[in-house]
Amino acid sequence: MEPDSRVNILLVDDQPAKLLSYEVILGGLSENLYKAASARDAFEILLKKDVAVVLIDVCMPELDGFELAGMIRNHPRFARTAIIFVSAVAMTDIDRIKGYEHGGVDYVPVPVVPEILRAKVRIFAELYRKTRQLETLNAGLERRVAERTAELEAMNAELERRVEERTRERQLALAQVHEMQKLDSLGQLTGGVAHDFNNLLMAILGNLEMLGRRLPADDASMRFVAGATRAAERGANLTKRLLAFARHQELKPESVDIIRLTEEMGEILQRSIGPSIELVIDLPSGLAPVRVDPNQLELSILNLALNSRDAMPEGGRLAITASHRVALADNLLGLDPGDFVCIAVTDTGVGMDETVLRRAAEPFFTTKQIGKGTGLGLSTVYGLTKQSGGATRISSRPGIGTVVELWLPAAAPVAVEADSQPAAARLPAVQPCRVLLVEDDPLVAESTVAMLELLGSSVVVAPSGIRALEIIGDDAKLDLVITDHAMPGMTGVQLAQHIRAIKPGLSIVLATGYAERLDAAGLPLLDKPYRLDALASVIVSLQTGLALPQKTTG
Ligand SMILES: Nc1ncnc2c1ncn2[C@@H]1O[C@H](COP(=O)(O)OP(=O)(O)OP(=O)(O)O)[C@@H](O)[C@H]1O
Ligand SMILES: [Mg+2]
Repeated sequence: MEPDSRVNILLVDDQPAKLLSYEVILGGLSENLYKAASARDAFEILLKKDVAVVLIDVCMPELDGFELAGMIRNHPRFARTAIIFVSAVAMTDIDRIKGYEHGGVDYVPVPVVPEILRAKVRIFAELYRKTRQLETLNAGLERRVAERTAELEAMNAELERRVEERTRERQLALAQVHEMQKLDSLGQLTGGVAHDFNNLLMAILGNLEMLGRRLPADDASMRFVAGATRAAERGANLTKRLLAFARHQELKPESVDIIRLTEEMGEILQRSIGPSIELVIDLPSGLAPVRVDPNQLELSILNLALNSRDAMPEGGRLAITASHRVALADNLLGLDPGDFVCIAVTDTGVGMDETVLRRAAEPFFTTKQIGKGTGLGLSTVYGLTKQSGGATRISSRPGIGTVVELWLPAAAPVAVEADSQPAAARLPAVQPCRVLLVEDDPLVAESTVAMLELLGSSVVVAPSGIRALEIIGDDAKLDLVITDHAMPGMTGVQLAQHIRAIKPGLSIVLATGYAERLDAAGLPLLDKPYRLDALASVIVSLQTGLALPQKTTG
């Protein structure tokens, strides 16, 4: 028997000789034997050792065997200890019953038959050993079950977490899609309204300009004209921002080095945000240029900086950073897959709660006091990135700050910068010519006619493409056609195609403030609302055969 699987057997008898004889009889069992001459000794051993079987003499002087057995049984630790009584005297059935009542499992008469005593003790020792093994096994099993349960619980929790995460991501994505759709339809609506206003403002500005030219320079009425012009220009500025949001603005995208652009903006940015806000511009060298209209990008960054300034009345930190990003297919921003540069404008301001964040890019949404904000800042930024083939992403936490990311398509690096064209100071000299003006809006037509006449040209007006084609068929002396693009029935581009078919030599200029994703088919473009100098320049360029800068729309 392995020493550690041996069980303990306690022999209790007041007579040393009998103890010795039991020891001899049970010695062959290879268990551990302990001897006690009194109930007290027996208890001492019981408390120290884990005893499997107790052999008790019934007749002992201090405490008889039954009393000792009763005490053992009453102790919770020994509830399973097998008690065998050994007795030479009390051998009646009543004695035996009393023995069993006191918790005995057997009652052995003296003289003891060694084989029988050994056999009985072996059975109970074995029973004890097996029970112990079972308990160990059971404990191991329970431990493993507990471990497995814990593992399962952990897996379950992880699964739940992932499901929750996925659900949240999905909800977020859906909300984003919903927001984008909402902004898109708002954009369409705004675009239409802004287009109409643009035409009205164009007529107002044109007429004011004509009026200004007729009044003597010292006339007091000039002040009124100037005031009206300023107001109309502000209006035109607003419609420009609306058109930007609606992605209908005239963009002149080129390859822009953001490092240089932000460097050049550094001073104006710092001046706009004031001394209490720390400005950090940190762009990695080697950043790819982006394809965007640089003026509009500058405006956007300035807009964002102003928003950040307003969000940090007590001061803070404004950081402009950028990184190269790759958009994969089916990305949440709805970008075409490819290379992008992400410009991040981060502030440590008051941040936005969910409701404000959701609505921030809507045109005219502002939380600022009347007169403080038009609510067009973020919507123009949104429109610019979108029209440039990129996207805007805003994240914000109340009390922590805001990050606005401008994702713009990376452009192939360009080494040489384009010449900046100085604005014409004086009106270029226009050769008198005969112009067909195609314009469905009588107000716009009227002011343009006045401008053309001022430039020394004679003008015929056609309110539609069809009418224009009739006039071209009849009138052989036309030098130039200036046509609006967005007209019912036939667009400017369609009209140009017809004209090219019948009169290939005739010059055509497309006037539009509503730069839909139109393919201008190589036509020189005129931005609405246009001023006299712009009109003059485009005509002169055609007359001198100069190549006009082609406008591209996003
Ligand atoms: N950096 C920012 N921190 C906290 N809130 C912001 C931030 N940027 C924008 N917002 C919130 O979004 C709203 C809309 O911003 P947006 O720039 O479109 O308009 P605005 O700043 O109110 O007016 P505008 O820019 O036309 O003068 C703001 O009124 C403000 O509540
Ligand atoms: Mg703003």
